[in-house]
Amino acid sequence: MNRIVTLDEFIIHRQKDFPFASGELTGLLRDIGVAAKIVNREVNKAGLINILGVAGEENSTGDTVQKLDLFANDKLIDCLKNSGECCGIASEENEHYIEMPALESKNSKYVVVFDPLDGSSNIDVNVSVGTIFGIYRRKSDSSGPCQLEDFLQKGTELVAAGYVIYGTSTILVYTTGRGVNGFTLDPSIGEFCLSHKDIKIPERGSYYSVNQGYYLKFDVEMRRYIDHCSDLNLRLRYIGSMVSDVHRILFQGGIFLYPNTRKYPQGKLRLLYECNPLAYVVEQAGGKAINCQLNRILDIKPKTLHERQTIAIGSPAMVDEMKAFVERYSMPMPFEG
Ligand code: AHG
Ligand code: MN
Ligand code: MN
Repeated sequence: MNRIVTLDEFIIHRQKDFPFASGELTGLLRDIGVAAKIVNREVNKAGLINILGVAGEENSTGDTVQKLDLFANDKLIDCLKNSGECCGIASEENEHYIEMPALESKNSKYVVVFDPLDGSSNIDVNVSVGTIFGIYRRKSDSSGPCQLEDFLQKGTELVAAGYVIYGTSTILVYTTGRGVNGFTLDPSIGEFCLSHKDIKIPERGSYYSVNQGYYLKFDVEMRRYIDHCSDLNLRLRYIGSMVSDVHRILFQGGIFLYPNTRKYPQGKLRLLYECNPLAYVVEQAGGKAINCQLNRILDIKPKTLHERQTIAIGSPAMVDEMKAFVERYSMPMPFEG
């Protein structure tokens, strides 16, 4: 029988890879693992209790908030607050960042950003949702409270990022910049166990993932690329939960697109909470992530906490191909006399 490696064991073992690590990052990842188990418990019984449905308010970027979004948000904040391992958090569900009080004279060096529940429109119909997170080392002086600049860092500055999917099984995938590993929750022992070691994304795949319902709202170069995917008989899959769509692509290869539309001229997905953490994971697995202006996602300097971006993310050969289409079809047409 293979020896089971739990998430905690793996994280502690990996701490040795960072010679000057103080254990804070290790602690943070463990806190996120604990919060994920609590959220998982609630997601699993969501149909049984009166937690389904809309909470009756909108989040800071105008989306309808489900009750479970708020629950997941609260649990993540509680878990991160209790250990004092981070000095601040920024969440998709909160307009402003939240300072974490220093505990036991700990002056934490890290801030955490997260989308507590991604794909929340899927909750009521029993389809996979997830949590996405990123961890940055703070820029401001560690003797005082965290500052906005600590959160507005490029994705290249991430020290760790990952996601949890509450699906047919619950899987946590994360990277600290040395490869990507996945852990499946074994409900019988309540532990995340190493199940997907050193994940590598296929060079190309047979899936494309885009909200095809918006086809006519996309720019012409994006429509040409989507036509190309269809010409190649690629299989269209769109769950409406970015984390689940990207998870499929991470394992099976393909491309996920959320281009600009009339409703979302800058794109819909949030740079801090969705695009950057998933771009970091996908790049670490050998993939690529760019926006529709063809800039690498991780190189974009965020201007605001809730900034949105367009995104094309997935298998490297397919992102390159999409880039070539955009370059080709956005060139000015030669004069036809
Ligand atoms: P969230 O539930 O955190 O608001 O995110 C939903 C996002 C993303 O997960 C998904 O890919 C996208 O919204 C779906 O948007 P459309 O319904 O416009 O396709
Ligand atoms: Mn989301
Ligand atoms: Mn969300």
